[in-house]
Amino acid sequence: MSELFDRYDRSYGAVVQSSIDFSGLPHDFFLQAKADLMREKIAAHFGPGKKPDGLDVGCGIGSFHPFARDLFSRYCGVDISAKSISQAREKRSDIEYAAYDGVSLPYDDASFDFVSTVCALHHVPPRGWLSFMRELRRVTRSGGLVSVIEHNPLNPLTRLAVSRCEFDRDAVLLRSETVEKLMAESGIAGAESDYFLFLPFRTPLSRRIERAIRKFPFGAQYMSVGEA
Ligand SMILES: C[S@@+](CC[C@H](N)C(=O)[O-])C[C@H]1O[C@@H](n2cnc3c(N)ncnc32)[C@H](O)[C@@H]1O
Repeated sequence: MSELFDRYDRSYGAVVQSSIDFSGLPHDFFLQAKADLMREKIAAHFGPGKKPDGLDVGCGIGSFHPFARDLFSRYCGVDISAKSISQAREKRSDIEYAAYDGVSLPYDDASFDFVSTVCALHHVPPRGWLSFMRELRRVTRSGGLVSVIEHNPLNPLTRLAVSRCEFDRDAVLLRSETVEKLMAESGIAGAESDYFLFLPFRTPLSRRIERAIRKFPFGAQYMSVGEA
């Protein structure tokens, strides 16, 4: 697996963009939408303006980090692709990056307040899903949050994008119910999912509409969040 993304360390952005070109939207649009929802969840749980210590598991080359860095006090990123991690490190010195073996996260128990994984779980073989989730739970402080952002297999345009993306050939998409069940089995409490990326705009009106319909399971992606 690490070899797969090691091969895309320099072309990752271009490969993602070519898989979503049909939408007419830049990759940044999708990254910003994830960060907006994360910002909202963090403010609701930790309090407005609070900056938890954050970890991003499966962070790749760190494409998401310019959009999310300001949400956190300490921010760490970890991935099994050593080449992706070296590229992420080249871009930012204010984030602590590490490569690991995909089995045990290189952090002590209860090291972070907010542990997320963004579009990485579908690259973990299903037999490894539960142990992956247990690792997210282990490194999260009690009362902190674990967040999983995933592609929504119920959305046909998401399926089209995945089918067009060459590094998604191994992908096994998960429904939000599966993620919530994995969370419950890992000791993560009260997991709930919100769907987003229904609309191809980011105006105040479209954001209000997105907020109103986020429990309908048809957005392009979803975020499942539970408490450690
Ligand atoms: C589609 S990329 C997403 C990268 C980044 N999260 C983003 O949104 O741009 C999937 C990433 O998951 C990583 N990955 C796959 N299995 C993993 C595991 N068991 N632990 C951590 N990262 C993993 C891959 O190396 C790859 O960098």
